[in-house]
Amino acid sequence: MSSTTAEQTTAGAAASPADSAHPIHAAHTPSGTIRLGVFFQGVNSSTAWRAPGAGDQVAWESFERLITTAERGVFSAFFLGEGLRLREHQGVPLEFDVAGRPDAQTLLAALASITTDIGLVATQNTTYNDPVDLARRLQSLDLLSDGRAAWNIVTTDNAWTGENFRRGGYVDHAERYEHAEAFVDVARRIWRGEDVDHEGRHYHVRASGRLPRSRQGEPVLFQAGVSPQGRDFAARTADVIFSPFGDLERAIDFRHDIVERTLAAGRSAESVQIFPGAEFILAATDAEAEDKLRWVREQQVGPQQAIALLEQYWGRDLTDYDPDGPLPDVDPLVVESGVTRGAGFQFEKAQELTRAWREEAAQKGLSILEFARSRQGSRGSSFTGSYDSVAEQLAEYARWGAIDGLNITPWLVPGGLDDVVDELVPRLQERGVYPTEYAGTTLRENLGLPALA
Ligand SMILES: Cc1cc2nc3c(=O)[nH]c(=O)nc-3n(C[C@H](O)[C@H](O)[C@H](O)COP(=O)(O)O)c2cc1C
Repeated sequence: MSSTTAEQTTAGAAASPADSAHPIHAAHTPSGTIRLGVFFQGVNSSTAWRAPGAGDQVAWESFERLITTAERGVFSAFFLGEGLRLREHQGVPLEFDVAGRPDAQTLLAALASITTDIGLVATQNTTYNDPVDLARRLQSLDLLSDGRAAWNIVTTDNAWTGENFRRGGYVDHAERYEHAEAFVDVARRIWRGEDVDHEGRHYHVRASGRLPRSRQGEPVLFQAGVSPQGRDFAARTADVIFSPFGDLERAIDFRHDIVERTLAAGRSAESVQIFPGAEFILAATDAEAEDKLRWVREQQVGPQQAIALLEQYWGRDLTDYDPDGPLPDVDPLVVESGVTRGAGFQFEKAQELTRAWREEAAQKGLSILEFARSRQGSRGSSFTGSYDSVAEQLAEYARWGAIDGLNITPWLVPGGLDDVVDELVPRLQERGVYPTEYAGTTLRENLGLPALA
């Protein structure tokens, strides 16, 4: 995941929330609550598909068990990521990506029928979809689930996804966000039953919204993308940001930055909630949790996966390298075009990044395999510890008001939420930082968002 921007302001992690009534930003009032969502990745090594007890990534039983466990634990939302094509390297899907992922809206519509309160969040990109069509499908999910739908708006960065669509190939970053603004504007007008006559740079649309409003009015808007453009887009548009900044210091910085941007957009400081991605490795004691973390990493990343991970960044065949040996001493091949274009690992700084990795691994004495395992979980934050210490850590986040919730990617599917719901949630409830029941039946109510006019 790309790092933070230079524009961020540091709130000062050394301070304590007790130092001030408004620890992060004078305009922001912490809710004192942490909510939870579950992010079902479906692909890649964040789930240990080889671990004992691992299920099938496309089986109905996997989704059914995960979502019913989450609802038992008063989770706000069940998220599905979107990956319209598997990650590829040298023309074949990456070895550590499990193959295939069901369509998010089809799956969420089915899950709506076996749940009553949990929110249903479909990640859908604005770069390749069409706004009228997508607006109608999301509104249908909102109606069928009686006001529990949300859209996680992403712009999708890589060329291989583009190759699946008429539009084709790679779309530049700035252009993607310009497109996203117009797309969301059209979708919202469709939801509001307006006649849309849009003649923009990207498309022409003449359409009318004809479906009735759901009980929450229209789907909740999540957004994931943390460049300055992505942040400003969220500040203007979103109800919730799905961020990769889960450690306390970065969560504080990010909150401060988003509050500034939200105020600049003419919205209140609390109008955009923040849910970082997270992985929870829990046990009865801290020491047991550390042991479990090592074991989970072994399950997630094996020797071939470690080589495949590095190949993404080096852009060349590294199969002759020993996974137990040092990182490759060759420079990466930076590909200017082709299906990998735009993907996180093909950015201009590949040279710089791989050099930094080599230095880090050498300094810490890590082999390729050990280094790849140490990178695992880097997209969100790993909360590793005893049930009590992680509960205390989250209570501290609530006191700061650094985040509004966490989006958990279970390391095990389908049983990976069991200890969160049975052990962590009650401890959070005892500390008064987690809901004991659903506040209402719509997602908007359960996130504490204001009702729409
Ligand atoms: C936490 C998080 C989750 C994301 N999930 C997805 C996803 O499921 N599908 C997808 O196509 N892109 C996803 N993205 C990537 C965005 O589509 C976007 O392309 C990328 O973050 C680049 O935008 P940025 O430069 O503003 O960060 C995600 C991004 C973040 C930060």
